[in-house]
Amino acid sequence: MTTIVPASTSQALSAALAAEGVGSLTVPTYDCFPDGETLAAVPAFDDDAAVIVGSTATNDAHIELLQLQDAVREAGATDITTVVPYLGYARQDTAFRAGQPVSVRAAARAISLETDRVVLVEPHEPAVADFFTVPTAAVDAAERLADPLSGLDDPLFLAPDEGAIALATTTRDAYGAGDVDFFEKERDYDTGEIELTPSDAHVADRDIVVVDDIIATGGTMSGAIEVLSAREAGRIYAVCVHPVLAEAALTKLSAAGVERVIGTDTLERAVSDVSVAPAVAAQLR
Ligand code: R5P
Repeated sequence: MTTIVPASTSQALSAALAAEGVGSLTVPTYDCFPDGETLAAVPAFDDDAAVIVGSTATNDAHIELLQLQDAVREAGATDITTVVPYLGYARQDTAFRAGQPVSVRAAARAISLETDRVVLVEPHEPAVADFFTVPTAAVDAAERLADPLSGLDDPLFLAPDEGAIALATTTRDAYGAGDVDFFEKERDYDTGEIELTPSDAHVADRDIVVVDDIIATGGTMSGAIEVLSAREAGRIYAVCVHPVLAEAALTKLSAAGVERVIGTDTLERAVSDVSVAPAVAAQLR
């Protein structure tokens, strides 16, 4: 048998994986000392195999995941799989300026130390998997993103930048109808300002589904929604794999006129209406 070890960030997804038959849940403890240090621990267990599930959207979550790996090894597990549904720092996949780290490489090397394999979900760029020093697979979650959508009027599936075209296309294919298009995006890394250049696609009175891998600050998505609203689009849906939703992102999207925000349970948010559990479970079988 396999023991599923949930990090505090991935409790619902861990339960969904248990329901998919991946293994049985153990109940870790998650403590924090007055100086801010975390201490995650696991109860004793008899299984040799463990699946640790932990998204790393914060620095504390990174440390907690490493602690759970160490604790599980200490408890005697000889076969450890680490599932990282949302891998933080994935967008820092290169040194953009002299003197900067490749942050995701540092994180990947640390995660690789006490595990036999890693499973990621949509890690921003597929090449991120190469930074791990153990066998690493990336799960495609896009096919489920269309599940909550129905009754769209002449839909257009729009990628807010070229990098999201494949996601938008898979989502359209899963929905079964509609066109695909994309915007050109330029980001000024000094100011954080985003400039979106709309395509020539006809959007007036059409329902638009904007599909991206991550909604973080909401800057990209709300910029796209503003352009679409100005061109008198119908209902506008903001769909993503990873609903980071930092700071006032949700409010930004609402103010821009979004009809609904849809994300997956790689991060546990109010909008996490799609579960990646079936896709992750299929990878684990
Ligand atoms: C960028 O390449 C990503 O695909 C997302 O578009 C971006 O990370 C979203 O970030 P934000 O919500 O802060 O604009």
